Amino acid sequence: MIQKPRGTRDFLPDEMEARRSTEAKMREAVRRWGYREVCTPEFEDLELFTLRSGEGIMQEMYVFEDKGGRKLALRPEITAAVIRMYINEAKVAPKPLRWCYFADCFRYERPQKGRYRQFWQFGAELIGADTAIADAEVIMLAADALNATGVTWDLKVGHLAFMKNLLKDLEPSAQRRVMAHLDKKDFDGLKTTLSEMGKADLGESLTALVECRTLAEAFEIAGTIPEKERVEQMTGILDASGVSYSLNFGIARGLDYYTGMVFEGFAHNLGAENQIVGGGAYRLAHLFGGDDVASVGFAIGFDRVMVSLGDVQPKKDTIVGIVCTSEGRSFALSVARAFRAEGIRAEMDLMERGLGAQMAHAAKSADFAVVIGAREAEAGQVTLKDLHSGEQKTLAPAAAIAEVKAHGAR
Ligand code: HAM
Repeated sequence: MIQKPRGTRDFLPDEMEARRSTEAKMREAVRRWGYREVCTPEFEDLELFTLRSGEGIMQEMYVFEDKGGRKLALRPEITAAVIRMYINEAKVAPKPLRWCYFADCFRYERPQKGRYRQFWQFGAELIGADTAIADAEVIMLAADALNATGVTWDLKVGHLAFMKNLLKDLEPSAQRRVMAHLDKKDFDGLKTTLSEMGKADLGESLTALVECRTLAEAFEIAGTIPEKERVEQMTGILDASGVSYSLNFGIARGLDYYTGMVFEGFAHNLGAENQIVGGGAYRLAHLFGGDDVASVGFAIGFDRVMVSLGDVQPKKDTIVGIVCTSEGRSFALSVARAFRAEGIRAEMDLMERGLGAQMAHAAKSADFAVVIGAREAEAGQVTLKDLHSGEQKTLAPAAAIAEVKAHGAR
């Protein structure tokens, strides 16, 4: 028996319905902020992701060569692709651009609950606004989208300027090494790396920065940074908007393109893989041949949201089973059509079963049976049986449709 590839999943109809219902809630949340959906290819030139996505992602990429000898990669994330698209298609469009996406990504990771090799991200990118209110909007947007799903989670907001100020005497590659330790909260590794670099003295202030929870403390530890006013404005907007968050200046993010504000969210009821959203302000466009444009965005780990929500069943459709004899079939087909035209799910027997077997099947799978034999077909009527109460009556198709509608979802 052939199995699905490691780290991938199949989704049966119940699960797909639950996923679509949650997806719709997020879509509705971002629509209200003016974010419109975009779509990019599943694979891109490898270079798009090697330029600035960071060590971690590069090692996890699905890379292949096509028949023309081009080096391609399945997208490990969507941000780089969206910025590439912006340069190709929309760089003269009025700014800012508010874009969102719901798309699958591929990372060759060690699979476990909440960590897959194919997974879906629901994200947004705000392109061309370089202000405190733009940073705040994206955080509030992510919060709205996640809150709409019903997950319970904690939001942590930081800014790279503090860490970068402490590390300003280090080469960019050394800065990245240090930040990678901080991103993973690997304090032992941090200590070793800093002493190798002859910078052991930085350990104390970096640890203090990671642990501090107020702006005042952070400024004290990291010194005055040029972004001071912008950070204060952004937190002021968040405070006034009532978003619940905590400050965390240890957020370094695994991807290399962030330049300023960064944020992450963690679900309450997930284990090791509890990070359900990540984002921040970044610059990528100049690397891909465009003008330097400031952007802010986030991506929600949709599969982790679904794991966190558990088995919440979405509202079920009302199902009508059309039960008919061969004499009643052509009238039954038109009745089924009339139910569907009114938005009601109607299912006909396809197995050439007898009336009794059809009824037994409807009792297992439907809420109502609409029975049509020769007598009903001749009179242009149907027998509607409520399969929950057992009640039944004979009436015109339009009246049966009205009756089913009146019951609402079962
Ligand atoms: P990221 O933190 O690498 O950021 O991924 C965003 C979210 O995707 C994570 O917080 C996590 O919930 C989910 N995720 C990542 N890897 C997996 C996996 N293997 N299985 C399941 N879920 C996963 C980005 O990708 C950035 N592009 C976010 C961004 C957008 N920054 C600016 N704009």
